[in-house]
Amino acid sequence: MAIFAFMFFKLFIASVPLAQGLVREGTVQAGPVATIPLDKQYVPVIRNEKIVSYKTAYFGKIHIGVARQQTFTVVFDTGSAHLFVPSATCPSPACTRHRQFYRNMSDSAIDLDHDGNPVKKNATRRDQVNIAFGTGEVTGEFVRETVCLTPGAMETPRKDCTELRVILASEMTKEPFMTFEFDGVLGLGLASLAVDPEFSFFGQMSKMNGLTEQTFGYFLSRSDKVPSEISFGGHDKRRLASDLQWVPVHKPELGYWQLKLVGVIVAGERLPLCEEGDCVAIADTGTSLLGAPRAVTQRMHWLLARKVPENPAEIDCRTFPGPELIFELEAGVNVTIGAEDYSRATGMRVLNNKTNTSQLICRASLLPVDDGEVLGPKAFILGEPALRKYYTAYDWKRQRIGFGLSIQPNPEEYEDIEPQHSIYGAPPSGPPVPTEVMV
Ligand SMILES: *[C@@H]1O[C@H](CO)[C@@H](O)[C@H](O)[C@H]1NC(C)=O
Ligand SMILES: *[C@@H]1O[C@H](CO)[C@@H](O)[C@H](O)[C@H]1NC(C)=O
Ligand SMILES: *[C@@H]1O[C@H](CO)[C@@H](O)[C@H](O)[C@H]1NC(C)=O
Ligand SMILES: *[C@@H]1O[C@H](CO)[C@@H](O)[C@H](O)[C@H]1NC(C)=O
Ligand SMILES: *[C@@H]1O[C@H](CO)[C@@H](O)[C@H](O)[C@H]1NC(C)=O
Repeated sequence: MAIFAFMFFKLFIASVPLAQGLVREGTVQAGPVATIPLDKQYVPVIRNEKIVSYKTAYFGKIHIGVARQQTFTVVFDTGSAHLFVPSATCPSPACTRHRQFYRNMSDSAIDLDHDGNPVKKNATRRDQVNIAFGTGEVTGEFVRETVCLTPGAMETPRKDCTELRVILASEMTKEPFMTFEFDGVLGLGLASLAVDPEFSFFGQMSKMNGLTEQTFGYFLSRSDKVPSEISFGGHDKRRLASDLQWVPVHKPELGYWQLKLVGVIVAGERLPLCEEGDCVAIADTGTSLLGAPRAVTQRMHWLLARKVPENPAEIDCRTFPGPELIFELEAGVNVTIGAEDYSRATGMRVLNNKTNTSQLICRASLLPVDDGEVLGPKAFILGEPALRKYYTAYDWKRQRIGFGLSIQPNPEEYEDIEPQHSIYGAPPSGPPVPTEVMV
């Protein structure tokens, strides 16, 4: 507990103006059980040999094992439901590039069959699982292990550790894992998304540790100097500008943090697709863009595109104003995204050969979501742009998501502090040069 208390204290010093301190009038404010700073990686998206945008990934440390903990970085992903890390026995380059779990260094790991029973001593083969991750795939075997959110000894019962079924990857595809810095993924999807509830990290933690607040909270920072954070066992009130507004999860049996959309309003236009009230929005910490059904992305792009006057040589389109994109949720909650969050930073210069004129255009960055996937034809994804503007809290017990405008700490407060997080592949500072197309 000592290490955990120290870390929390350090975070507290690092990020809170004194006036909003933890101790107020002699009472200790209850807070999350653990708050983990997140590393960030930029991965360039290249088209025609030019960088057109960046994908981002956020990940933090977890610690697996009891006597000798092994540390990994994982994406805390509300869009999946299992924990996997590379196994030391995995020969794939995507495994050897990352930290690998040494099964033989752990005396707490128990090998399991797919049904959760310990593997028999005389067994000659092991059950394997395949999990698809977007463009990639992980194959692995099962163990039961203790997983902690902060490092340190297990002498007293700890609220930030839980026993869990873990997948040790024996194969990982190069795409997409080779390019990423993180070692594995820790799924935070609802239990029904998992093969078995015992795979669900937060489900296990909530159940076994008697958490008073069965929620986790997610904060994305606008400045790379300030770490993004995930909190478990409560949300971090210091990062909230307003009270949370709660929206019930729609069809929790599907396992997604999915909300019902009353409507989607793009630049004042209500999308006909959602008029029957059967569109959904999925809060997904593992997606770096806003996702929209492929059928409407073109219309949305058209409505959100802006002509930039005076043809500047360079511009960061996130600073150029534009119309609003509104996700109207149940319970009277609107998630409103402005140009600063939905824009692609890089502008597009349209050169007209006939008239010999050019026009600079700022566009939205949208991820087309294909029909026929598990999600259905009317699913939007609230990825990073929405989760940066809004702090989100995920209430496991009551199956609801809370939204509140987030407070961005002042980056200057972090200047003299030893960084708690790493940034990988940051793009050069300054506005990006527009791409050019001929018409
Ligand atoms: C543990 O396993 C790794 C490969 O999985 C092997 O290289 C290493 O020698 C083993 N260590 C011990 C102490 O058995
Ligand atoms: C393994 O041992 C169990 C009893 O401990 C026995 O029932 C089973 O048939 C054995 N399996 C094999 C493959 O030898
Ligand atoms: C949400 O946005 C819609 C469309 O702009 C508007 O009609 C509605 O009143 C808003 N609701 C709230 C609670 O602000
Ligand atoms: C544009 O016009 C120039 C001459 O003005 C010509 O060399 C070039 O091939 C044209 N490009 C396209 C894409 O039409
Ligand atoms: C087109 O405009 C550019 C600058 O605006 C000029 O340098 C170029 O000569 C023009 N080309 C034609 C074919 O008029």
